[in-house]
Amino acid sequence: MSGELELQDRRIILGLSGGIACYKAAELARELVRAGASVQVVMTEAATQFITPVTMQALSGHAVVTSQWDAREPNNMAHINLSREADAILVAPASADFMAQLAQGRADELLALLCLARPAERCALLLAPAMNREMWAHPATQRNVAQARADGATVLGPAAGDQACGEIGNGRMLEALELRDELVAFFQPKRLAGRSVLVTAGPTFEAIDPVRGVTNHSSGKMGFAFARAAAEAGAQVTLVAGPVHLATPRHVCRIDVTSARQMHDAVLPLAPRHDIFVATAAVADWRPASAGEQKLKKDGSGRAPSLELVENPDILAAVARLPVQQRPWCVGFAAESHDLVRHAREKLQRKGIPLIVGNLGPATFGRDDNQLVLVDARGETELPAASKIALARQLVQVIAERWEPHPR
Ligand code: CTP
Repeated sequence: MSGELELQDRRIILGLSGGIACYKAAELARELVRAGASVQVVMTEAATQFITPVTMQALSGHAVVTSQWDAREPNNMAHINLSREADAILVAPASADFMAQLAQGRADELLALLCLARPAERCALLLAPAMNREMWAHPATQRNVAQARADGATVLGPAAGDQACGEIGNGRMLEALELRDELVAFFQPKRLAGRSVLVTAGPTFEAIDPVRGVTNHSSGKMGFAFARAAAEAGAQVTLVAGPVHLATPRHVCRIDVTSARQMHDAVLPLAPRHDIFVATAAVADWRPASAGEQKLKKDGSGRAPSLELVENPDILAAVARLPVQQRPWCVGFAAESHDLVRHAREKLQRKGIPLIVGNLGPATFGRDDNQLVLVDARGETELPAASKIALARQLVQVIAERWEPHPR
């Protein structure tokens, strides 16, 4: 990261209702603080049975509030004071009982009272349900969750998996890092809402034999950051990834491939179903003409086998050549070692695309930061050095402003 914090200056009320998942709220508080948020913890009576306010105070850096009768509030109106100062209330865990209270507009405890008293237009309410799978599946819970949603709450999860009760099913609270990412995404402008975006990322690997191959140093980080930023902006995102060890961003549909031809064959049928195509992959330009089925062995002569290479299909150019009704709006990347703008402009013309993003390849591979120059018919725009996710969000903004739908 280049210094910027993803929740800088955000004021978050972290609400805990009763449930085993309270243990995850400790890590969540820590992650939110690390991301730059100011975190005020509010706990229900039941939550204090699962984790102590002392722990939550230490991790959040603020005294925990548990009662509407808290005499520390000079006007004795904790529910008003707290909700007027917050950008969002995140209830994690949100128990079945807590959501029943919300659905009915009850205010038996401070946390529910706070949710009811919040100014909904400037203080969002996010719920991270956590409960046994039968409780989650119960029609009463589903009714309450639907009601909370209809009343403006955003519901995060729950996930499926092993449960504290020993059963397996739907109802697990999302993990702390997932909830942090959901909160970060929540605050991003929805510039690509209703749009679909197809992204290629990472290197490709071209087999020489079953154990060796030709590849490059692309880490996939810029492409994964772009896929994440597009999903945060509300797009439906498909990510076709070469061999990389990166976690799939939330709400992104990922297809793993190895070689350039596999990437080509995955992308071409998908392209006409997407509005925008962003080719960040460092596709190998050539592949061995024939990959040996068995491992090549030294023959003792001291001579290396000669490797005949053939050119791979150009995926971006192939998408850009699709008939206009099937063609998404195409964005290319140019990773160059020198003369960045000149090469980028040549590629813009050669590939017949409306926008190309240039970066200095060797200097950026594997790093968490980058700097970009956007080249299109209008001219050049520099995006100065920043983290790849910050640059990806800027690129999303530019694409949202410049893309034009083709007639379908
Ligand atoms: N690209 C692609 N398929 C290929 C090669 C490149 O889709 N077989 C895409 C990349 O994802 C990138 C853009 O084309 O968006 C530019 O790729 P690059 O390899 O830098 O350019 P080349 O066209 O290969 O030109 P050169 O080798 O001269 O740099």
